[in-house]
Amino acid sequence: MMHILLGVSSGIAIYKTVDLVSKLRKEKYEIDVVMTENASKLISPSVFSAVGNCKVYNQTFDVNDGWIVHTELSKKTDIFVLAPATVNTIGKIANGIADNLLTTVAAAIPNNTPKIVVPTMNTRMYENKRFQENLKKLKQDGWYIIEPEVGHLACGEIGKGRYPDNMLIIETIKFLTSDKILKNKKVLITAGPTKEAIDPIRFISNNSSGKMGYSLARVAKRLGAYTCLISGPTYLDKPALIDEFIKIESANDMYNEVIKRYNNFDIIIMTAAVADYTPATVSEQKIKKTNKNMNLSLTPTKDILLEIGQKKRKNQILIGFAAETEDIIKYAKEKLLNKNADFIVANNARDVMGKDSTKVYLISKNSVSEFEGSKEEVAEKILKSII
Ligand code: CTP
Repeated sequence: MMHILLGVSSGIAIYKTVDLVSKLRKEKYEIDVVMTENASKLISPSVFSAVGNCKVYNQTFDVNDGWIVHTELSKKTDIFVLAPATVNTIGKIANGIADNLLTTVAAAIPNNTPKIVVPTMNTRMYENKRFQENLKKLKQDGWYIIEPEVGHLACGEIGKGRYPDNMLIIETIKFLTSDKILKNKKVLITAGPTKEAIDPIRFISNNSSGKMGYSLARVAKRLGAYTCLISGPTYLDKPALIDEFIKIESANDMYNEVIKRYNNFDIIIMTAAVADYTPATVSEQKIKKTNKNMNLSLTPTKDILLEIGQKKRKNQILIGFAAETEDIIKYAKEKLLNKNADFIVANNARDVMGKDSTKVYLISKNSVSEFEGSKEEVAEKILKSII
């Protein structure tokens, strides 16, 4: 299990760090928390301990267990996260001062252990020259800095200094602790449904949630790839850290955005549930109700996977998705040949659509592998199998 050492200093945003600990626990990290004395005055160490099911330390000398807290903690740490990080704590660490448990642990952590700092404070303190110099020193020492957000601050002012989204911190932890097996690769992923307009307020779409494609984008980035996600309408947030995020509406938009880019990518993964048909005409005005039957004329959309399959270079890897409800492997094998794809990921649409977990078959010309788990776990297995 990956061990996170969380250093907590006395920023007012400390209450958000309680949620970070809760989320890290759900992600199954082993956590230890080190707090400064002032942080312990803002929120009781018991809160962190209960929420994280973890030990919390704030005394340099442990009078009971007879072990040296700072060296023992620093030895088992896979990644050190300092959140929230105050002017004072950053200033001390940047200048090698070790006068409490947190700064002493920071001094004992090996140079090559990944370290993240999340500075949160009033804007003027953030812009303070000396503070910026100290932050720069941490950066030069290899610390990863998650910049604060701009917005309402606890002091009532508006500016840069807000605590960032905890999901960004977690994604950064995963990024810094993953093997970069896709380094120097560029991955293009399509995701979600498309929306085919009938009139200004009506459309045809489908139940695709986009979760599989978004999971693939997050994992591809973690594994070191330059990652571009082209997504139809979904309720999902932009995956943190990815390099390009393009939102589209229709199958034709998706076609245009993919065709513009595909040539620059090494791996192209098409998870999107692109509409196969679109209304032949889009009414400019809302279509009024009558008592008669109504027919909607549909024309086929351009098959993006098929076109890329015809145009792709030898060293480009093309992966299509197949959502079936019967004869899954047989249909997927046909699709592999018809579309000239290198792989088809096939699943039973009835079982997996919209869910957080999935079961898929990864099919190539001469192999069929089965993967099951959360969509992120399956995304990782797919990406590790195709290269
Ligand atoms: N796809 C695409 N462009 C389209 C339609 C689909 O690129 N206009 C891609 C999807 O992103 C997916 C794969 O093609 O990777 C799905 O194949 P497709 O033949 O469209 O599947 P179905 O529509 O389910 O086809 P069938 O009716 O033959 O099962």
